[in-house]
Amino acid sequence: MTRVQMIGVSKRYPGRGANAAPVVAVDDVTIDVASGEIHAIIGYSGAGKSTLLRLVNGLEHASDGRILVGDDEITSLRESKLREVRGRIGMIFQQFNLFHSKRVAKNVEYPLVVAGVPAAERKRRVAELLEFVGLSEKSGAFTDQLSGGQKQRVGIARALATNPGVLLADEATSALDPQTSREVLALLKRVNAEFGITIILITHEMEVVREIADRVTVMDSGSAVEQGDVFDVFSDPQSQTTKRFVATALPTEPRAERLDELRERHRGRLIALTFRDGDVDQPVVFRTLAERGVGVSIVHGGITDVGGRSFGKLTLELIGDDLKVEHAIAALAQETALEVLA
Ligand SMILES: Nc1ncnc2c1ncn2[C@@H]1O[C@H](COP(=O)(O)OP(=O)(O)O)[C@@H](O)[C@H]1O
Ligand SMILES: [Mg+2]
Repeated sequence: MTRVQMIGVSKRYPGRGANAAPVVAVDDVTIDVASGEIHAIIGYSGAGKSTLLRLVNGLEHASDGRILVGDDEITSLRESKLREVRGRIGMIFQQFNLFHSKRVAKNVEYPLVVAGVPAAERKRRVAELLEFVGLSEKSGAFTDQLSGGQKQRVGIARALATNPGVLLADEATSALDPQTSREVLALLKRVNAEFGITIILITHEMEVVREIADRVTVMDSGSAVEQGDVFDVFSDPQSQTTKRFVATALPTEPRAERLDELRERHRGRLIALTFRDGDVDQPVVFRTLAERGVGVSIVHGGITDVGGRSFGKLTLELIGDDLKVEHAIAALAQETALEVLA
């Protein structure tokens, strides 16, 4: 069981050219990942996600701040001790980073050889790991004979070989098709559930976060701009970046261009209702409208679920006498979060 704390972490690289300003890849990021949690870090390309992960496994040194993995303070360890601690941190990558000239079993065995584990014990452990990831029959295959999903499963088996307390995943499913991606994410969930391994995964894909994560940090230009339970963050996004992620993945709200189009086609009042985890009684909404003699058509929307809880927005066109519509809107506003769009 391993907690990971990043406290005010920054990383600056020297700028290119003689007088160039330094590049601030990670800017004062604080993330507290509880033991056994699956924490996603989401952001667009260049946000600083990979840099942050390299600081956590000690491949690079932070310019400022502290990082603790369990009781070990990564940011103050000497190289020899760091190597030992790295054995307790597993890592998987977008491009899998396997040895193509080695067979599957040898790839999985490699970290055990490095750790000096005796041969008989290595053999037993490799068999067990391949069984866990469902690749026992591929033990003797070369990795370039495997599909992408199988390669990542080998990557996961290898990362688990030394019984790490933490698994770091850098865009681990970004090179896979959606179906295979879901299978690999399901495997990561098992890794978390069965072994209690803390997982930090970075991604630019909202689907990944929604599929697997307990909590999420949204990064933008090196900073952590939003953080919390996945449901809370995505059902009520505050930052522009988070709003963009939600809009691309979840069709709950019409985009501005689409809204103009809807206004053209629908001449009644347009209102948007926000639903969060059953906090709106839908029958009451429709009954209120009916009782006041207001017609309704649904023009846009979606209710979806994140972390097993539902949220979404419905855009409704209210049709009828102006005064009745006004009264209906006032009555609805008593019941629920409501936005008048047009
Ligand atoms: N070794 C490096 N030297 C200089 N700049 C770097 C280096 N590594 C990353 N950067 C810069 O830091 C920023 C964040 O990069 P990165 O962590 O790879 O982002 P992400 O993984 O979110 O796409 C980018 O502007 C990138 O160009
Ligand atoms: Mg990256």
